[in-house]
This record gives sequence, C-alpha cells and structure tokens, in this order.
Amino acid sequence: MTAAADCAPTAALLPIQQALAQAWPGLTLEWQAEVDSTNMALMRRARAGDASPVLLVAQRQTAGRGRLGREWQSAQQPQDSAASLTFSVGLPLAPKDWSGLSLAVGVSVAESLDSNGAAGLQLKWPNDLWVNDRKLGGILIETASLPNERQLRYVVIGIGLNIGERPATDLRTPPAWLRQWQAQATPLGALSDLAPALVAQVRHFAEHGFAPVAPRFAARDALAGRDVTLSDGRSGRCEGLGAGGELLVRTAQGLEAISSAEVSVRPRGMAV
Ligand code: BTN
Repeated sequence: MTAAADCAPTAALLPIQQALAQAWPGLTLEWQAEVDSTNMALMRRARAGDASPVLLVAQRQTAGRGRLGREWQSAQQPQDSAASLTFSVGLPLAPKDWSGLSLAVGVSVAESLDSNGAAGLQLKWPNDLWVNDRKLGGILIETASLPNERQLRYVVIGIGLNIGERPATDLRTPPAWLRQWQAQATPLGALSDLAPALVAQVRHFAEHGFAPVAPRFAARDALAGRDVTLSDGRSGRCEGLGAGGELLVRTAQGLEAISSAEVSVRPRGMAV
C-alpha cells in the first residue's frame, strides 16, 4: 500500500488493502491526493510496461474522463474530498470473451452499495449507476495490449461515484448521491464496501464470462420495457440484453442488438 502527498488516510486504507489482496493476490492499493485521471495514470503505466495489479484512488482528478470522450466532473469544490469517490483498478486479464465486462462490474458495484435493494439502485446500459433516473456514478473501462502477450491485456476499470450532495449544473443527467440513503457515507467507506467484491467479480468474469451475471443485471435494468432514443437517431423499446450483454431494442426495423460503445441511449423524454 502506498499513499502519496498530504493527509493520506493510511490507517483507513490498511483493511481495504488486506481485503483486496485476498480477492486478487498481489493487488496493491495506492492513494493520491491529485492526479489528472486515475484511468489515464494506469493506462500510462501499462503502456510503459507496468502491468501490476493495482487500485489507484484519487482524492481529486483534474481531468476526469467519461465515456464517449466526455468529461467526468467530480466534486465541484476541490477542497471537498468527501463529495466523491474516484478510482481505477488495473489488472492483467485474459477472459475468453470480453463482452459484458462493464455490465458485470456495474452489477457488483450496485449490489455492494444497495445490498438489500432498498435504495432501488439500477443499471442503465451500458455503464451508468442510476437511482430514479438520476446518475449516481459511471464506469469507464479501457484496455492496453501487453508486449509479447496474445491473450493477456491490461484492463483499467475506472469508477466515479457521487458520495455527497452535488448540484445538477451542467450535467446531462440529474445527479444522485450515496448519502441520500447512507447518511454517513464517505469515499473510503464506499471503497471498502465495494472494491474487494468488484475485484472478485472481475476474477469470476475472466473465468465464466457475463452469462452467470445476466439475471442480476436484469433485476436492476433501468431501461427494460422503456422507450428509448439512440444517439444515432434510432428509437424503440428495450427488451433486455442479448447473451453478450448487447442491448436489445425493438425498433421499426425489428429487434436490434446494440453493442456499439459509441452509441448513447436515453429513455424517451430525456435529452440524448
Ligand atoms: C461515465 O459515466 O461516462 C464514466 C465515468 C467514469 C469516471 C471515472 S472516475 C475514475 C476514473 N478516472 C477517470 O478519468 N474516469 C473514471
């Protein structure tokens, strides 16, 4: 475990480090006060040949990134370190099939944060955590090839969560935050609740793929049965997921499987 820079919460990180190392032998935990983006930091390391299993938490990101090239904004006030949780897990991985990984990650995070289902935490395909059509957090997965490896890649799984209340200014989707149902929630508390299970889920995924997780996604599917608009102009009604995690949408052309990571999907009535 390493903790760089000011006020690093070393003692609080120790039990999380131990739980992580049980879930993935050799996985280390790093905490930094500020980075541009935890995803970018781990991708840079991978491209420089460092494929070590690591979980990097940042108290602040100066250039957080979301899907489709969007920006990921964390806490509005840089001094409010309790307002959000931003971290990335980097792992060498060789699943037989990569499809559905972000969905399996989402299921794990949702279940950890809402174990009894009371919060109604849902998953909005492919990678958003929603509560009542409000966005609690998002997942950004990137991979890097490794020298002399055909199957093995380095996967970087980045997760951003709103912990404290945040204004809706400039957000495409109105925000939700964890303290709406866990009044005492903190970033490290949330990390402790979700990270070991998340890493265990990724190990399980590498072995068994998305199929065993599919019913758990379906139980939290925010789009099931809803009319949606796609950013490429198509529209239709969602009918769950295909075997590889693709979104099934009944359009005027018939049942279409949406798998492109470049397409954004919104329930009808919400801005695309
Ligand atoms: C999305 O909703 O489009 C995905 C958001 C992912 C944000 C997290 S925050 C930690 C990690 N570092 C980044 O730059 N992005 C991810």
